[in-house]
Amino acid sequence: MSLQVTLMLMAVWTFTAAFGQTWHTLDSSYVAAVYEHHLIQNPNPLVPVSRHQALQHMQKNLDVYEAQAALAAQQGADIVVFPEDGLQGFNFSRSSISGYLETVPDPREEKWNPCTEPSRFNNTEVLQQLSCMARRHNLYVVANMADLQPCPLRTDPASSCPPDGRWQFNTDVVFRSDGLLVARYHKHNLYFEGAFDAPPRLEVVTFDTPFAGTFGLITCFDILFFEPTIVLLERGVRQLIFPTAWMNQLPLLDTTQFQRAFSLGANVTLLAANIRHDGLIMTGSGVYTPFTAAYHHAQRGDPEEGRLVVARVPVLEPQWDEKEGGGVKGGATDPQYCHQDSCAWSAPPTFTASMMYDPFQFVLLNHTKGQVEVCHGSFCCRLQFQKFPEGVSKELYALGAFEGTHTVNGRYALQVCAVVRCAGMEAASCGQVVEEADTKFDFTLEAQFGSKYVYPSVLVSAYVLEQPDHVEKTGDGRMTMKHANTAGGLVTACLYGRVYHLDKQ
Ligand SMILES: *[C@@H]1O[C@H](CO)[C@@H](O)[C@H](O)[C@H]1NC(C)=O
Ligand SMILES: *[C@@H]1O[C@H](CO)[C@@H](O)[C@H](O)[C@H]1NC(C)=O
Ligand SMILES: *[C@@H]1O[C@H](CO)[C@@H](O)[C@H](O)[C@H]1NC(C)=O
Ligand SMILES: *[C@@H]1O[C@H](CO)[C@@H](O)[C@H](O)[C@H]1NC(C)=O
Repeated sequence: MSLQVTLMLMAVWTFTAAFGQTWHTLDSSYVAAVYEHHLIQNPNPLVPVSRHQALQHMQKNLDVYEAQAALAAQQGADIVVFPEDGLQGFNFSRSSISGYLETVPDPREEKWNPCTEPSRFNNTEVLQQLSCMARRHNLYVVANMADLQPCPLRTDPASSCPPDGRWQFNTDVVFRSDGLLVARYHKHNLYFEGAFDAPPRLEVVTFDTPFAGTFGLITCFDILFFEPTIVLLERGVRQLIFPTAWMNQLPLLDTTQFQRAFSLGANVTLLAANIRHDGLIMTGSGVYTPFTAAYHHAQRGDPEEGRLVVARVPVLEPQWDEKEGGGVKGGATDPQYCHQDSCAWSAPPTFTASMMYDPFQFVLLNHTKGQVEVCHGSFCCRLQFQKFPEGVSKELYALGAFEGTHTVNGRYALQVCAVVRCAGMEAASCGQVVEEADTKFDFTLEAQFGSKYVYPSVLVSAYVLEQPDHVEKTGDGRMTMKHANTAGGLVTACLYGRVYHLDKQ
């Protein structure tokens, strides 16, 4: 039978010791729930439907949300997060989504509880149900829906109002535990979403809770960009809510792999709720803090169904940009993976292979241990490693480096170092998708980055995440990740650097 992965990682933080008994105050902890939703889809999203039909369709998904909110509440959840597109689905056109749209009032202007004041705005059935869900189960509810905002037709040619006189936004909504609508966020970085507009101005949206202080909202593709994600971090927000509909992309951007990497690299909590959809390779949700990860990632062949992940996590206090050099320091003694006389950094022959559409420079790791360096331009990755078991292996590994702008399905500047298991035994297969491995590793992976935003991850066989033993960042941009004795066979060990300031070049 299939193996489902839902587990707690690394209790560096032990709850009672570190945080005492003061529940529900800052410096304490709270219970977060994320629901990976197996979407009930409209089979023909390009065919317009009536409002009545749209509501009938969304009701099927809302019924699942209702049951899961109840389960989350039973487990003590203070907040439950549902995924992007989880009510209406995706692949609509601008006109075919019409029946699904509601106008979400701006909570900064209107204090509105849709559950207790349902008749204040017409055409708000979904908002009412979500609000009542929060109220009935006495927890915060975060969901994603489609918002219609009428806009003034363009008398001003600079106006960004579309010709049909309305904006249509991919929108996160947040309800307080009494049902009050407390936040509305319009997704900034759309990903091939013909039904939606990007908001005319960047929205940086947070809300406050009595159980954990401030949370910030980002949606799916947003997580890769400066706006609004890094803007939130620079304002001191340490707890992010992340509804997503993310298509897995090994070896570097698998869902849970990147969720874990982002939370660690940015030192924040991430509540990530994804869609489950096997046809689109969507699965992978979790509750991540810098210290712990509780997550779910379905395996090939698992029944296609939803999954609730609930975890108690510490409140993270706001923390403004630490001074450069404020990294976690530790005894950085060089591990001895090679004999004294063979210890020189070797620079074996390199080759270029495409990994996730980017031309990486690779070197093969076809010895049991060693230390190698590979550079792409002036960006160099260094690796010291030891494989287990020793001796001849049926698995080929490579160390890759890439510096440049990724341009396929989005444009963003990267500096990436990655140890990957190659899909086959030929060099050309390095960088391709592989899900499993048997070879275990001790390693130290290191590079000098031109950005302080570097996201570290260790992914082992069958989508299991490991918490790196040691990650160290120094003021000059050097980042080192050390890990000994992987519990599973290594699939990818990665330092994923985002060089935001070069995105526009
Ligand atoms: C929906 O869109 C995705 C991404 O553009 C595409 O891969 C997929 O085939 C589409 N699915 C359907 C059912 O149209
Ligand atoms: C709601 O719609 C009804 C019928 O179209 C209309 O009479 C009423 O004024 C509307 N209410 C609001 C608050 O817009
Ligand atoms: C990460 O966050 C924890 C908890 O807030 C804090 O103690 C630690 O100093 C932070 N680490 C870095 C490198 O900023
Ligand atoms: C292993 O590396 C050596 C050079 O270090 C190379 O000559 C050899 O072809 C490699 N083996 C494989 C299987 O690629």
